[in-house]
Amino acid sequence: MQNESTKKGWNIQPSKSATSTTNPIRELVDSGKYKPNPNKDMIPLSIGDPCVYGNLNVVQAVNDELIKNINSGKFNGYPPSIGYPAAREAIAKFCETPTSPLTTQDVVLASGASGAIEIALCALLNPGDNILLPKPGFSLYECICKNKGFGIKYYNLLPSKSWEADIEHLSSLIDDKTKVILINNPSNPCGSVYSKEHLNQILKVAEDNYLPIISDEIYAGMTFGDAQFYPIASLTTTVPILSIGGIAKRFLVPGWRVGWICIHDRNNIFAANNIQGAITVLSQIILGPNSLVQSILPTILDKNNQVIQKFFKDTNQTLEKHSNLTVDVLSKVSGLNPITSSGTMYQMVGIDSSKFKDISDDREFAIKLLNEESVFVLPGSLFGMNNFFRIVFCAPADKLEDAYQRIKTFCENHQK
Ligand SMILES: Cc1ncc(COP(=O)(O)O)c(C=O)c1O
Repeated sequence: MQNESTKKGWNIQPSKSATSTTNPIRELVDSGKYKPNPNKDMIPLSIGDPCVYGNLNVVQAVNDELIKNINSGKFNGYPPSIGYPAAREAIAKFCETPTSPLTTQDVVLASGASGAIEIALCALLNPGDNILLPKPGFSLYECICKNKGFGIKYYNLLPSKSWEADIEHLSSLIDDKTKVILINNPSNPCGSVYSKEHLNQILKVAEDNYLPIISDEIYAGMTFGDAQFYPIASLTTTVPILSIGGIAKRFLVPGWRVGWICIHDRNNIFAANNIQGAITVLSQIILGPNSLVQSILPTILDKNNQVIQKFFKDTNQTLEKHSNLTVDVLSKVSGLNPITSSGTMYQMVGIDSSKFKDISDDREFAIKLLNEESVFVLPGSLFGMNNFFRIVFCAPADKLEDAYQRIKTFCENHQK
């Protein structure tokens, strides 16, 4: 207890951890400049939540399974912090490939892919170490690293090469404090899906420098046309990999908050240093994700479940149509250069500010577009990429068409 003489009144300060935590999207929205035109209905194409418009829905069979398990009364207690064994086994079977086998022991559940990413980062890094992150990239990586005091070095993704990593740049950043390379494939915000050859190039850098990889594969399987998703762990027998997944995007249920880490450690490199133990201990902080959602994983992740396979196919087809529509319309707008997506639900669009009389950068573009046309897109600088903006193309096609016509009008109104 404090004695009377040291008490000088209330002195409650926010912690350093809190004050070093930023959410760039929130900051932007709260800046006060982001106001829609009151005479036009708002079309948000900003947040990576497929549920915003109600047109993309999880298949009924998934809901039925959840309801059945609620009514069974069997899933009301605490699961083990790393997840129910049946859920972990289901994830292992769902994520493994012939060249990257998994067992129940290799899987740890978390509160969304976000929670899994936090656990993976904290298992591998100490304050003062650094990590290589993609630029542009999903802002949560930076947010967690800043919160924990992990150093960040950004490697460039190249728009001219369908957002492949600049391998030379990636290699040049590595120093003796570098502990891990993080990749995100398929990518938010780029919509890119890496080829086998490119993943092998990244693996070579990791291998040459003895660096493990955290591979954020939350958009696994969400690909269009001929693009094929390869789990990076399926292409190596030597580099230790923590691959991150979850149900948020593929099942269109981001609110359900279940994600996972798959530990690919075939030469026992993680095991030799008890990284599995570190991940387990970190999972104990919040005792794992929701028991009911875990309980349905054996049914919904069963690769022989035809209803689910059809649902995946239908969702991808819808997103692919939306992606094509986006590129078709916006590629004809002077001053805009959309880079075709091969998967996910995102589209990056380049802005050629030399074509506009009064738009100097992506922030100004996004603010004025919202102020004038009530279409909300996120500036690329939020993801580390100036002079681009990101579209989420989950809205119904007619809404997207309306939004793209407004973007066209907006660009015409601001042409030089
Ligand atoms: C690349 C990436 N990783 C992880 C996440 C977080 O997923 P979850 O909702 O499962 O936490 C997102 C969500 O937008 C994402 O885009």
